[in-house]
Amino acid sequence: MSANADFVRRDLAVLWHPCTQMKDHEWLPPIPIRRGEGVWLEDFEGRRYLDAISSWWVNLFGHANARINAALAQQAQMLEHVILAGFSHEAVVELSERLVKIAPPGLTRCFYADNGSSAVEVALKMSFHYWRNLGRHKKTRFINLSNSYHGETLGALAVGDEPLYKRTYQPLLMDVITVPSPDCFNREPGESWEAHTRRMFAHMERALAERHEEVCAVILEPLVQCAGNFRMYHPVYLKLLRDACDRHGVHLIADEIAVGFGRTGTLFACEQAGITPDFLLLSKGLTGGYLPLSVVMTRDKIYQAFYADYAKLTAFLHSHSYTGNALGCRAALATLDIFRDDDVIVKNRALATCMHYAAAPLAAHPQVAEIRQHGMILAIEMVKDRNTRAPYPWQERRGLRVYQHALKRGVLLRPMGDVIYFMPPYVITRDEIQLLAQVAAEGIDLATR
Ligand SMILES: Cc1ncc(COP(=O)(O)O)c(C=O)c1O
Repeated sequence: MSANADFVRRDLAVLWHPCTQMKDHEWLPPIPIRRGEGVWLEDFEGRRYLDAISSWWVNLFGHANARINAALAQQAQMLEHVILAGFSHEAVVELSERLVKIAPPGLTRCFYADNGSSAVEVALKMSFHYWRNLGRHKKTRFINLSNSYHGETLGALAVGDEPLYKRTYQPLLMDVITVPSPDCFNREPGESWEAHTRRMFAHMERALAERHEEVCAVILEPLVQCAGNFRMYHPVYLKLLRDACDRHGVHLIADEIAVGFGRTGTLFACEQAGITPDFLLLSKGLTGGYLPLSVVMTRDKIYQAFYADYAKLTAFLHSHSYTGNALGCRAALATLDIFRDDDVIVKNRALATCMHYAAAPLAAHPQVAEIRQHGMILAIEMVKDRNTRAPYPWQERRGLRVYQHALKRGVLLRPMGDVIYFMPPYVITRDEIQLLAQVAAEGIDLATR
């Protein structure tokens, strides 16, 4: 038996993989990865795969990054973890100081959790609890966008809007107020992104005007609905939303778990609208893709609503065992060092332009309805009919065919439905971007035959 096959046999005997119909592995075995280096992953037989999706959007500066490795090794010698209730440590304080400096102004408090979904839970509870501490007991609801995704735990799932993940669990989920997404794929012919986005904001304005008394917060993913087939919208939506939330006395939760840390072309997507949300959620790239860590950043005004004598019972009694883990914080600090020292955001502009030109020829493909891009995220939407934009029946799993072809060519693309996307680590080269585009084009040709 080959080294890969032997490993897969052991894997399938004991593992239950995430987000997977395990029966698919009867004909499409998982790829065992022995090591990683830069944008490349290598299997047990030395075959290499270009990680075009940053291993679920987490990796920023490559696998086995020497600087993050060194920082982690040093931290491990000092302190791996300590309880963060009643105790503290150097890495978590330094990280919080630096995050406060680089985040949109006014976000002065950091509350840590250990993955994206947990950060969403924290923000929902904090917003609800803030209003309760103020005696606003009618505020119990949240507004979300159609086609949104915020994670898989029950609260996060409830404020998402992806039926594939949500439908089964509906009886367990809180009810939310869902407003149509400004998704610019749906704009009228000839309509600009900005005009469409502004027009769609009317739905949000109406929901806030009618329901603000009962609404704690609006939650959304700034600029790109990543798990919602990478649908995108114009930054003006965030500006209009900030203003409307202020007028109606409702919090704004910006879930930058996927889009934060440079993905959309700025360090944080909210910067493109010049706004400060009431809660900024960060995870994934926070540790450069090394360790599970998340943070909810918020304003002093919100912090103060919980700050009182213990007997008033207004404290936020939420915790996770690994809250503020020292190794995770150290990886995050090393990641911020790279941003600071290497002019990453500026260099990414050139890479984003390169991605644009590499993918551009696909715009003429008869089965491609749109190529869209925000910074370092580029998505190509395959459709059955380019004129009506009718999708392929989902049962045909055309995106999966692109995935299979790309694997044969040594590229890890993992289409979202029929949307092929590039969201690579920032250490990708121009030649590697050309390879990605070439393999995507071949895959789309094959999948649409
Ligand atoms: C926008 C957004 N929010 C939340 C999450 C959930 O994060 P995690 O998978 O770490 O729980 C994700 C994960 O993909 C995400 O894309």
